[in-house]
Amino acid sequence: MSDDAVTGIENLSQETRTFSPPSSFVQDAVARPRLYEEAQRDREAFWASRAHLLSWKKKFTEVLDWSNPPFARWFADGTLNAAYNCVDRHVEAGHGKQVALLAEYEDGSDASFTYAEVKDEISRMANVLQDLGVTTGDRVAIYLPMVPEAVFAMLACARIGAPHSVVFGGFSAEALRSRIEDAEAKVVITADGQNRRGKQLPLKPAVDAALAGGGESVKHVLVVRRTGGGVEWTEGRDVWWHEARENASTEHEPVFVEAEHPLFILYTSGTTGKPKGIVHTTGGYLTQAAYTHRNVFDLKPKTDVYWCTADVGWITGHTYVVYGPMANRSTQVIYEGTPDTPHQGRWWEIVEKYGVTQFYSSPTAIRTAMKWGEDIPAKFDLSSLRLLGTVGEAINPEAWMWYRRVIGADRCPIVDTWWQTETGGIMISPLPGITDTKPGSAQVPLPGISVDVINDAGESVNNGEGGYLVITEPWPAMLRGIWGDPERFQDTYWSRFPGAYFAGDGAKKDEDGDIWLLGRVDDVMNVSGHRLSTMEIESALVSHEWVAEAAVVGASDDTTGQAPVAFVILRSGSEEAIAEAGGEQKVPELLRAHVGAEIGPIAKPKKVLLVSELPKTRSGKIMRRLLRDVAENREVGDTQTLADASVMDLIQQGLSGKR
Ligand code: WTA
Repeated sequence: MSDDAVTGIENLSQETRTFSPPSSFVQDAVARPRLYEEAQRDREAFWASRAHLLSWKKKFTEVLDWSNPPFARWFADGTLNAAYNCVDRHVEAGHGKQVALLAEYEDGSDASFTYAEVKDEISRMANVLQDLGVTTGDRVAIYLPMVPEAVFAMLACARIGAPHSVVFGGFSAEALRSRIEDAEAKVVITADGQNRRGKQLPLKPAVDAALAGGGESVKHVLVVRRTGGGVEWTEGRDVWWHEARENASTEHEPVFVEAEHPLFILYTSGTTGKPKGIVHTTGGYLTQAAYTHRNVFDLKPKTDVYWCTADVGWITGHTYVVYGPMANRSTQVIYEGTPDTPHQGRWWEIVEKYGVTQFYSSPTAIRTAMKWGEDIPAKFDLSSLRLLGTVGEAINPEAWMWYRRVIGADRCPIVDTWWQTETGGIMISPLPGITDTKPGSAQVPLPGISVDVINDAGESVNNGEGGYLVITEPWPAMLRGIWGDPERFQDTYWSRFPGAYFAGDGAKKDEDGDIWLLGRVDDVMNVSGHRLSTMEIESALVSHEWVAEAAVVGASDDTTGQAPVAFVILRSGSEEAIAEAGGEQKVPELLRAHVGAEIGPIAKPKKVLLVSELPKTRSGKIMRRLLRDVAENREVGDTQTLADASVMDLIQQGLSGKR
C-alpha cells in the first residue's frame, strides 16, 4: 500500500442520476427514517433495542464495553443461542410450517424444509456431533457444497456453541488442512462429492488428503451422501451422516452461551500470505445480521421469497444466507450449482420458479449476465422481484443501470452494500424506501454505524475529496480478533489511524456527501504524481458499448511511476460494429481515446489488451495481482485461489498470439 495512495483523485466522474423509490415501496417499507434519528440520538440505546429483537436466555445489562479498545464486548452479560434464535423461536411462535429453505439442485431437482423440519435436522445433527465428542467451545470444520446440510451443519454447531469454520468447497486439500490446523478442529463435516457444471466432483478425497498429512486434532469426519459415488473409508474415524441420523433424536437442548462466545471463525486472505481466521461472536454478530438483513432487504417474512446467491463458504453466505435471514424467519432459496448450468438463464429460471422477491448477488455476476446478453433474462418472468442487492466490489454505473433496467424492470430499488468479512454485516448501503439511489455509490452508513473518509493526516476530507475509509465507532458485528493472534488484529486494522478501524479501502465523498468506494488502496495507482482509481478507469471502459468487462492494473513504468494497463473482454454482438470501425486491431486505440474522453488524458491506459476471460477468485473477485504480473511481463504468481487456474494460460496464449 502506498501511504499517500488516494489523495487528489479530483478526476472522478460525477454521477448525477438518482432514483427515488417507487411510492408503493415507500408506504410499506420496513426501514423507517426514524432509525437514523434514533441512532443519532443515542447509539448504544439504538443497538440495545435492535438486540432486544432477539430472544435472550438472560437479558444483558451492559450494551458495550469499550474500556480496552480495540477489543469490544457487546451485550456481554447476556446469554443466548444463535440456532435457537434462527429456528426454535419461530417454531415456538407457531411458524413451524413456514418453509425455511427451498433447495434447488443443479440438475433441476429440489427439496424444501419447513422451520419445524430444520429444527429436527439441526437437533439430530447436534446430537450426532455431541456423540462424536464435540462440546461447547470445540471447533468444527465444515467443507460442504451449497446444499441444505451445509446450513444444518452450521446451525448444529451453533446449537452446541461449537464455533464452526466453514471452508469453501472449492478450496484445495492444502488450504483445508491449514485451516483445520490453525483452528484445531475436532470434527470435519463434508460430503462424498458435489455437482458442479454437470459433473460430479469428489469432496471427501480432499479431506482424506488434508488429514493424511496433518490435522491431528480431527477425531471424526461426518460425511453427507450427496453424489453417491464410492469413497475411501477410515474405520473408526469416518461416519455417514445418513446412518447416524437414523438413530439420532430430534430432541436437543440448545446450549445458551454468553454473548461474546465465539460463533464462528472464517478465514480470509489479507495482504500477507497466511489467511487470517476472523473471529465473530454470538450476540453482537446476530444482532447486526438480523437488523441489517431486515432493513436493507425490506424483509416481509410472510410473503417474501429471498435469494442470496452467495455460497456459505464466504461471509455473505454466513450473514445473508444463514444467520440474518433465518433470525428473521425468511423463506429463502439456496442453489447448489453454477449460473450457466445447464444454460445461461439458470438463475432467472430459478427466480421465476420460486417467485423470488429479493435477489442479492455480486457486480461480477451482473457483468457476466450483461456479457451473455439481455435476451437471456428476457425469456423468464422476473416480475416477482421487488428488490435487488449487490456486494463484493464496487458496481460500475453501467452494470448498475443494466441490473436496474433488465433484471429489475426499472421498478426495484437497488442496494449496493459495502462491508467485509471483518465487519460481519452490512455497514454502508442505501435503505430501500428511504434513500434515493445513485448508480455506483454505496452512499450512506446504516443507522448505528459511524464511518468517515480521511486523508493521510487522519483528517476528515471535504465533500468532493477522496481518502481512506475508516470506521470510527465500534459496531456489534465487528470481528473480535484474528484466531490465535491478538496482536495481528491490532496491527492490521487499528494501527494505521489511531482510534479508528482502517478497512483497507479508498473512498470518496461526492458533493452530496455520498460515499463512493474506490477499491482497495493497493489497487490505486499513482501515475505521474496523479492518483487514479483502477475502478474508475474500469467503469469508463465498461461504459463503452463494445466492452463487457474490464480490469485495470497499475503496472510499473519507468517514466510515470505507474501506468494503467487494461484487460478487456468484448461484448458478444459487437463484432459488426468493430468490423465497421476497422477491426479488432483498432479497438485498443479507440478505447484509450474513450477513457481519455471520459476521465481525462492522464487516465488513458498505456495498453489495452483484449482477452477472453479474467482471472477471478472463487468468490468472483478479479485477481489484479496476476494481471499486474502479465502487464509487467513477469512470471505469473500463485494461481491457487483462482476459480479456474487455466484462465491465466488462456490470457497469456491469447496475448502472445496477438503480439
Ligand atoms: C470490497 C465481502 C465496493 C471492499 C462482503 C472490501 C466492496 C472487500 C463492496 C471485502 C461494495 C465489498 N462496494 N467494494 N458494495 N462490498 N467490497 O471480506 O474492497 O470478501 O474491503 O467481504 O470487498 O471483501 P470480503
